[in-house]
Amino acid sequence: MNIKDREDIRLSGSAGVRDAVDALRRGALIGLPTETVYGLGADAGNPAAVAKIFAAKQRPADHPLIVHLHRAAQLAQWARDIPALAWSLAEAFWPGPLTLVLPRAATVSDGVTGGLDTVALRVPAHPLALDVLEAFGGGIAAPSANRHKKISPTTARHVREELGDAVEVLLDGGPCRVGIESTIVDLSTGLPRLLRPGAITGEDLERVTGKPVESPVDTAIRSPGRMKLHYAPNARVVLASMEQVPERIAEYAALSARVGVLSARRAESWPAQVPWLSMGHSPDQQAQQLYRRLREADDMDLAVLIVVPPDGRGLNHALRDRLWRAAGLGHALA
Ligand code: TXA
Ligand code: MG
Repeated sequence: MNIKDREDIRLSGSAGVRDAVDALRRGALIGLPTETVYGLGADAGNPAAVAKIFAAKQRPADHPLIVHLHRAAQLAQWARDIPALAWSLAEAFWPGPLTLVLPRAATVSDGVTGGLDTVALRVPAHPLALDVLEAFGGGIAAPSANRHKKISPTTARHVREELGDAVEVLLDGGPCRVGIESTIVDLSTGLPRLLRPGAITGEDLERVTGKPVESPVDTAIRSPGRMKLHYAPNARVVLASMEQVPERIAEYAALSARVGVLSARRAESWPAQVPWLSMGHSPDQQAQQLYRRLREADDMDLAVLIVVPPDGRGLNHALRDRLWRAAGLGHALA
């Protein structure tokens, strides 16, 4: 019986950790909780196991994976020419939602890096992930455990529903605390560059780097995860300001499309029959719930989801980035 047919996706205790490590050693895939989103994990040192990730996700082979490590000291096994800044960032933010891109060590396989000369590395801040990494000893290659271009999973149940057939062990670590994918910083070219905004913000990074962290406008080639349409629900995502919402609702209602709204608050003037999904109030809460809400929109069979993105800096920048992508608009510039 595979995981998909099983109600018991617990496996969160020490037995689960043992089973997960056994599965990794056999070259099988596991579902792994992290503080950001759930990962689809394989032994990063086993190219055949890594190939299974691409098959399960239906992900193009040139999309590089993040290798998860137990501690920063392992960096030297996976990267070369490691700048002092990498150690400072690791010291400041690991374990945590920060991924560093560095020149790869000669032993890292092309399957992991998508043929690039660099490798993405991070130490996740989730007790179960750290237990598995410590017991396993090696690196775990893990993209988000969703099908290509779909929404990242933030609960074990999401993983079971979408990729339950592919994993031998699914560790349930509860809902992810952060809720959106890690910040990615490229340190392979001298100047640090922000490839994907996340919970570790540009301001957080600059406190350590002591200089501006460049945020390239178009990094689609260097970081394929930054393709335009990504993180998308089935519903069409339409961005609007609070003031524009009634107009948009009327437009789509006129087309008989089933429309809903995702926003921090609901205005009284909106038609009562239009379903409203609460975005949450603090940026932390909004990040934590964003993907769950997008999945709910699909569960409700909405054809159109009107979203009012949060403004402001910091984590809200990362939220806008994900929402811009869900809407197929590329990335947020502000
Ligand atoms: O929070 C996260 O980072 C989650 C959890 C599971 O750790 N993982 C995740 O993996 O989001 P994935 O595969 O969905 O996204 C990895 C991103 C992709 O956008 C990929 O292009 C980028 O990392 N990436 C990986 N290696 C890279 C490299 N060598 N250079 C530039 N970008 C790289
Ligand atoms: Mg992903």
